[in-house]
Amino acid sequence: MSMESVQPESTVLAEAMFDPARPYDFHLELTDKCNAGCPMCGRTDAMNGCRPDPRKVRKIELTLADLRRHFTADFCRQVGEVQLGGSLGDALAARDCLEIVEHLTANGVRVVLSTNGSLRTQDWWRRLGQAMRRTGSVLELHVDGLADTNPLYRVNTDFAKIMENARAYLAAGATADWYYILFRHNEHQVEEARHLARQMGFRDFVLIDTIRFGRTARFDYVLPNGERRSLEPPTRSAADFGATLRTASKRPEEIEVRPAPPPGSKAARAASGIAGIRCKAQALNRPYIAADGYVSACCWVEHSADERDLRAATGRPETDFSIHHRPLVEILHDEPFASFYEQAWQSGAQPICRRKCGQGLRNRRARL
Ligand SMILES: C[S@@+](CC[C@H](N)C(=O)[O-])C[C@H]1O[C@@H](n2cnc3c(N)ncnc32)[C@H](O)[C@@H]1O
Repeated sequence: MSMESVQPESTVLAEAMFDPARPYDFHLELTDKCNAGCPMCGRTDAMNGCRPDPRKVRKIELTLADLRRHFTADFCRQVGEVQLGGSLGDALAARDCLEIVEHLTANGVRVVLSTNGSLRTQDWWRRLGQAMRRTGSVLELHVDGLADTNPLYRVNTDFAKIMENARAYLAAGATADWYYILFRHNEHQVEEARHLARQMGFRDFVLIDTIRFGRTARFDYVLPNGERRSLEPPTRSAADFGATLRTASKRPEEIEVRPAPPPGSKAARAASGIAGIRCKAQALNRPYIAADGYVSACCWVEHSADERDLRAATGRPETDFSIHHRPLVEILHDEPFASFYEQAWQSGAQPICRRKCGQGLRNRRARL
């Protein structure tokens, strides 16, 4: 969008995206490093043996010192949840991952840790379970199949090791959900994987319909051994499986089950939509911090031209949006989050926001 479409002096009454009066739910990318080479991941060069794409991966990470500086004991009292996920990396590839989880949970924060589960030792996983248990934190283990099929998408991961790691974690009494992206090559194993998940002590089994095929019916890639392969969409959707497999005792839908915001509140306004956009970051009060320290509205707009234009409209240097240069709380309540985003939505700009939080073009899930 152009500078002209953001008007700080506009008479449009815009609401801040993030609200210090409500608990924050952060989404953090600890690193852009990953052990896996998932063909459809933004960091992977799919036709080049699923190697990391050097134009995208800088091998950077947030450290325990960064977290201690910004997520102080005081600030943690304002934080409900921190999701360790991200766009490119796997949190377990970050050097200080465990110490960061320990720091957050020791300060009362609930952590949601998303990983392919193939890194680290069983001792490490046991310690992780002990830390996660403190605040009812949840591990989202992404395993798209069984021993023969998981590595077809989670390239370079080791199924036996993932299972050992999961067992060590669950034995510590912590909570985990098994996430499973549906493909043609793994849809026949859904019931078996779900049964294994139950046996091992996972809380829920979550099926995902990926939107990453777009309008195409296959996605070609080359395995590290040079074998050419294609991913294909499944013949049954997550909802189809949900309808047949879900038991009456389970929660009926995956859509975040959170209490409805009080009528008339900022959260209620965000949930009902502004200019056709129901911004998830605003509704959940959830800022995104990338592995390079840059604070964004969410993982979809991070490092996008859409957000860069809004930052430029503030007149500040780009580095002012990084926690390595300015305190986190100051960034959160300044522009572009204070009013520029809403003004841009009102003026019909921000195509990513319109696609993701307007038209709802996101992966669908069924929790079984
Ligand atoms: C870069 S990963 C970060 C976390 C971690 N590396 C993992 O794999 O779970 C970001 C998220 O994208 C998900 N993902 C990967 N490939 C996907 C696909 N084809 N469709 C939908 N989600 C996908 C991962 O499972 C993960 O939840």
